[in-house]
Amino acid sequence: MKHFIDINNFKKKEIDEIITLAKKIKKNPKKYSLSCKNKTLGLIFEKQSLRTRLSFNVGMQKLGGSVLELYSKDIGFDNKREKAEDVLNVLSQFIDCIMIRNNDHKKLVQLSKQKVLPIINGLTDFSHPCQILGDFLTLQENFKNFNNIQIMWIGDYNNVLRSLIHLQNIYNFKLNIVVPRQIFKNNKKEFLKLKNKNLSYFSDPILASKNSHCIMTDVWVSMGDKNTNTKIKYFKNFTVNKKLMDNALKNVIFMHCLPAKRGQEVTSDILDGKNSVVLQQAKNRMYIQQAILIYVLKK
Ligand code: CP
Ligand code: NVA
Repeated sequence: MKHFIDINNFKKKEIDEIITLAKKIKKNPKKYSLSCKNKTLGLIFEKQSLRTRLSFNVGMQKLGGSVLELYSKDIGFDNKREKAEDVLNVLSQFIDCIMIRNNDHKKLVQLSKQKVLPIINGLTDFSHPCQILGDFLTLQENFKNFNNIQIMWIGDYNNVLRSLIHLQNIYNFKLNIVVPRQIFKNNKKEFLKLKNKNLSYFSDPILASKNSHCIMTDVWVSMGDKNTNTKIKYFKNFTVNKKLMDNALKNVIFMHCLPAKRGQEVTSDILDGKNSVVLQQAKNRMYIQQAILIYVLKK
């Protein structure tokens, strides 16, 4: 049984296979219009979603499959009426695959061990692998020679960054991570475990942006993160603005998984500016979800 839980569960060859398939679907969608015929995807969102919801829903329909949105409370996936494991057993009698977005990564991993239904991680408190694979496609479309690029991440140490680090650990591109000192201190052990010769940590955004091909950020406070008030004050000087973009390479691209908080992690002129690829990122989510669906549903 194939799941899609985290990028670091995969070999480079498998990620390449998913990306190549996504590119083929994007180029020739008609050819794949029956790839998931008679298959049903279930979606469970325990947190809000626009892009992930749309890309899985529309993506699966374009592959000839059908989609059922299942509401956690309605189907009793919250362990109150029956155990989530028992719900999953029943779901496996009706549907072929389930995407789950929740705030409890451990629960997702635990459910995947049951091996009754392919599970796709649609974002947890720990990681957001579908987003980063979509971003990988966007990066490859923007940089022909992907291996030589330098990415700068600026912001929180969150689910999106964790998946980006997983990808970097496989592809070894240059990644400069700028997180506030306090956040680095709080996660030092985990950071240092993931370090390698192309992955560096900075506390000065200007220093880290030098020679960058891509500046990537995300909200300072993620969904389900209760530290809003304490955290926000760590991010002084962490806004992606013209000064920071001008300090990077001339054709630097700006990436953000969205939703964005304008004026916090990024100014509107950058988010809407000519170097921003945020809508390309959003659109690419669909081709990646489609490739992931075909991948996990393949016998
Ligand atoms: N980027 C992303 O996952 O967006 P949603 O939270 O709207 O799905
Ligand atoms: N880090 C963000 C990503 C949203 C797509 C969050 O978890 O809220």
